[in-house]
Amino acid sequence: MYEYFLLGLVMMSTPATCSSDLRKCESDLLDWFHCWESNVKDGTCTGEQNSAWIPSSKVCNGQEDCPNGEDESIVLCKQHPDRMFSSYFYCATGAVIELSKKCDGKVDCSDGSDEMSSMCQPEEKINRRGECQNDRYFDCRKRKCVPAASQCDGWHDCANGFDESLNVCYQQWHNETQFQCGNGRLIPVEKVCNGYYDCIDGSDELKSVCDTKKNRNKCLEPPAPLSFTLATKYHHGINGTKYVLPNEVVQVLCIPSKKLKDPQNGWNVCNVYGKWQFPWPCCKNIKIKNKSNLRNIWQSFSQTKN
Ligand SMILES: *[C@@H]1O[C@H](CO)[C@@H](O)[C@H](O)[C@H]1NC(C)=O
Ligand SMILES: *[C@@H]1O[C@H](CO)[C@@H](O)[C@H](O)[C@H]1NC(C)=O
Ligand SMILES: *[C@@H]1O[C@H](CO)[C@@H](O)[C@H](O)[C@H]1NC(C)=O
Repeated sequence: MYEYFLLGLVMMSTPATCSSDLRKCESDLLDWFHCWESNVKDGTCTGEQNSAWIPSSKVCNGQEDCPNGEDESIVLCKQHPDRMFSSYFYCATGAVIELSKKCDGKVDCSDGSDEMSSMCQPEEKINRRGECQNDRYFDCRKRKCVPAASQCDGWHDCANGFDESLNVCYQQWHNETQFQCGNGRLIPVEKVCNGYYDCIDGSDELKSVCDTKKNRNKCLEPPAPLSFTLATKYHHGINGTKYVLPNEVVQVLCIPSKKLKDPQNGWNVCNVYGKWQFPWPCCKNIKIKNKSNLRNIWQSFSQTKN
């Protein structure tokens, strides 16, 4: 289930060197992100400053790189809440940063959630009562007191929204049973994409979140003696597995000492349920008289596979 995430890292870690041709940028969308609302020159995908194109490695990394910061938006960064790892720290926006950057005294998340005092100094009791008469009330910091129970209940009770703010509601994410709203509040993951807004910011019902949740199916490379050919645009899994997503087409071949019984059946497609649409073809042995030729075949095989 983590392949998309890994794929993302792989994609992000290798920005292509590309020409100043804009069309080239568009064909390298895996490597380059086009800022949506940019009042700077469209520029090119060379990574120059003040260009509308930024390397994908800078998307959802905690820092705003687009002129208007949309590369750190919740819509973009919350896309794969089901592929989070406890070995990273996730900002409330969904951006991923190194665990060591959490509570290191320096703000690394665009929303500051890596340095929230409720996480970094939990022993320091936050005075929520403020100027209100007792602990049954919460101070909106605007000369208004609301019932304490209205903190982080999914509704704005303070006119300034302070009762639903990141400062008040932030909780640290622990594992995949929890979904973190954009204001830092945790909800059970079952409430994600259930048709109701459980997060005040609606991040639990984002199209980008729900579409990817629905499309989690994938088809793994068939076992030996079959394997994908180079003509197949497959994805790499976290443990070296290869797979494709629904509606992606693959071609297979047999290991070098064998060949497809019926060469016409070397094609398959992953269906929407994550199953191969057709049965796999069989491989049959090739009769080889001269064994030293076999080594040549293996060598050319491993070259085409790399
Ligand atoms: C997930 O984290 C919560 C909060 O720390 C904990 O109560 C729960 O047991 C954890 N669940 C799993 C499956 O690790
Ligand atoms: C590799 O990951 C896939 C799922 O992504 C899993 O089905 C498979 O069993 C894993 N293989 C090994 C050897 O761990
Ligand atoms: C086997 O093939 C190699 C290289 O293709 C050749 O040099 C050798 O003479 C062949 N041996 C026989 C017995 O045909």
